[in-house]
Amino acid sequence: MSTVIKNGTVVTADLTYKADVKVEGGVITEIGPDLRGDKELDASGCYVMPGGIDPHTHLEMPFMGTYSSDDFESGTRAALAGGTTMVVDFALPNPGESLLDALKRWDNKSTRANCDYSFHMAVTWWGEQVFDDIKTVIETRGINTFKHFMAYKGALMVNDDELFASFKRLAELGGTAMVHAENGDVVAELSAKLLAEGNTGPEAHAYSRPPQVEGEATNRAIMIADMAGVPLYVVHTSCEEAHEAIRRAKMQGKRVWGEPLIQHLTLDESEYFHHDWEHAARRVMSPPFRNKQHQDSLWNGLQSGTLSVVATDHCAFTTEQKRYGVGDFTKIPNGTGGLEDRMPMLWTHGVNTGRLTPNEFVAVTSTNIAKILNCYPKKGAILVGADADLVVWDPDKAKVISAETQQSSIDYNVFEGKEVRGLPRFTLTRGAVAVHDGEIQTQEGHGKFVAREANTHVNKALSTWKELTAPRPVERTGIPATGV
Ligand code: URP
Ligand code: ZN
Ligand code: ZN
Ligand code: ZN
Repeated sequence: MSTVIKNGTVVTADLTYKADVKVEGGVITEIGPDLRGDKELDASGCYVMPGGIDPHTHLEMPFMGTYSSDDFESGTRAALAGGTTMVVDFALPNPGESLLDALKRWDNKSTRANCDYSFHMAVTWWGEQVFDDIKTVIETRGINTFKHFMAYKGALMVNDDELFASFKRLAELGGTAMVHAENGDVVAELSAKLLAEGNTGPEAHAYSRPPQVEGEATNRAIMIADMAGVPLYVVHTSCEEAHEAIRRAKMQGKRVWGEPLIQHLTLDESEYFHHDWEHAARRVMSPPFRNKQHQDSLWNGLQSGTLSVVATDHCAFTTEQKRYGVGDFTKIPNGTGGLEDRMPMLWTHGVNTGRLTPNEFVAVTSTNIAKILNCYPKKGAILVGADADLVVWDPDKAKVISAETQQSSIDYNVFEGKEVRGLPRFTLTRGAVAVHDGEIQTQEGHGKFVAREANTHVNKALSTWKELTAPRPVERTGIPATGV
């Protein structure tokens, strides 16, 4: 059984051309003119692009006394509805728990996925067990990315000594370090002070996490990663201070990438000053939304290449869950949704405004992260042999975003009322049509785990350079005789 996507324009990260795309057995088998298949999908007037990859999700995640409400079923259904065909979720060990036990829990949850997925492993504590487990996770579980929280003091946060130990271990084994970069000690102090002064509402969440806490932690993580010799991926880069640190590191030849979220690109801090408590609390996430100058910095980073990937950090809590924080902003579960809206919002505010070309859109939603995660060209490409994770993108199809019609299981949408132009006509996951003109045809359990090997070219280049420039004793002549 073959499927041919006909009459479309193929758009990849580096090429735009007219061609049909043939799919058999879940992979692309032919690209060219006038192809025939058992089933034909009409892509007239559309772009045929690699499906989106969202490298930052938290599905059914235990966090702040509750669980995020979208699970692998509703989360991946939302992803496909918006043209995203792969998600990467964070497996979180409890304090003292082995990494492999945490992974078992994520293995169980993810059996319901509608599209392919992978995991990042979080390092939430440090000890001999974690040191040993990192090797097993990389070598036997196909996970090469390890996230460290520099915030959430008393919960997920790790300190600098733990960060350095973990980074060195990853450098040795060909892993990539990831950080949630906010100074958790400062956030804890600022939060306590704000509460003591009667600042209890959601706006105080933003006051407690100014750009400086993110800029400082981003710079610290970059320097520690450089000393450890490990590539570093900074998640949810939200402000100029953090972007500036990443930009500088890149200019110095360091292997560092930054990931702005679609929320930070399109929503600003005024959301926290909304008179309605629920409106503001629903938008509480870390880092918080910023002002227009920070947004411009993020857009400029995507245009210039100093920022590499647009993600969502999809971590959806219902209004009822957000109400845990009435009277104390520090108890509002942190997180917002975005899986269904990332691609249409980025197209609308990026491509339709001229800030991004369609090729750059593909790069920052799919191809760049596939390369960073080491699953390219299985994912993120339109090439013979690549997985047929594809989106047939209709640039003229429009809608108004609404919680009423979304796939996510929560009762609101942070983009409510925003008009988007540019939506999937078809989304295909390994060749299976999951979405056709807004009609959802997903299959629970269709998604497969994507294993990603260690020691990519970047790790090799970095370790070669580090070895070449490592401190060495100076060979000397004329050493004075010692003793008397
Ligand atoms: O507020 C956020 N971002 N919640 C999800 C967990 C995290 O920090 O990524
Ligand atoms: Zn985070
Ligand atoms: Zn996150
Ligand atoms: Zn149709």
